[in-house]
Amino acid sequence: MIITVAVAKGGVGKSTLVRALASVAADQGHNVFVIDADERKNIDRWSMLLDRFGNKPDNLEIVAVTTPTDILALAQEQDRKGKLVIIDTEGKTNDELTAALFAADIAVVPVHLAMDDITAAHQLVNGHIPLVAENRGFALPVMYVFTNNTVIDKRARALADLREIIQQDGTRIASEEMPYRMPTRTCRPARPFMLAAGWTRRR
Ligand SMILES: Nc1ncnc2c1ncn2[C@@H]1O[C@H](COP(=O)(O)OP(=O)(O)OP(=O)(O)O)[C@@H](O)[C@H]1O
Ligand SMILES: [Mg+2]
Repeated sequence: MIITVAVAKGGVGKSTLVRALASVAADQGHNVFVIDADERKNIDRWSMLLDRFGNKPDNLEIVAVTTPTDILALAQEQDRKGKLVIIDTEGKTNDELTAALFAADIAVVPVHLAMDDITAAHQLVNGHIPLVAENRGFALPVMYVFTNNTVIDKRARALADLREIIQQDGTRIASEEMPYRMPTRTCRPARPFMLAAGWTRRR
């Protein structure tokens, strides 16, 4: 299975979500293969830190790859080996993002509840993703993950309005939010989103 974490906007929690998913999945015993497709290599640096502190589980591999062809080929190769592949992407629309989406069984889109972030999420989900799906000839399911990292007061009316706007396109929303300042080492949601949901491939 290939999970691509994407939204064409910087600083919304893509890499944080990749680290969380990879940690939870490895902790559950999956063989996890993370592809860092962002040329700034934040995930690759995380990998080096895990190595340095002796914290990297044996069933977690992390590789930085920056050309569209290599992203697609490596993701498919590791998927064929039965690994759970998770791809981190750069916060912009480029060929690397297209390749990562082209390979994916599911696209996971982190969303802050703020108008600009919702607009970026909608642009990806209703613009870019349908084009990728049309190109490869089968659907690409999408899931939003709310990141609980918002400046808006929890009780504010605006928050309910924003929730309504993001829900307008009918995309599924993960049952778990990404908590504020989630410590990666200890993140073990009660109902790990996605992994328990049993997505099946459609090709
Ligand atoms: N749930 C969260 N709680 C608190 N801070 C968060 C959370 N998610 C992300 N952040 C912080 O927001 C910043 C951006 O997060 P992150 O690097 O994951 O975003 P990104 O989408 O990968 O950014 P980029 O597009 O630059 O790669 C970081 O400083 C990160 O620590
Ligand atoms: Mg990032």
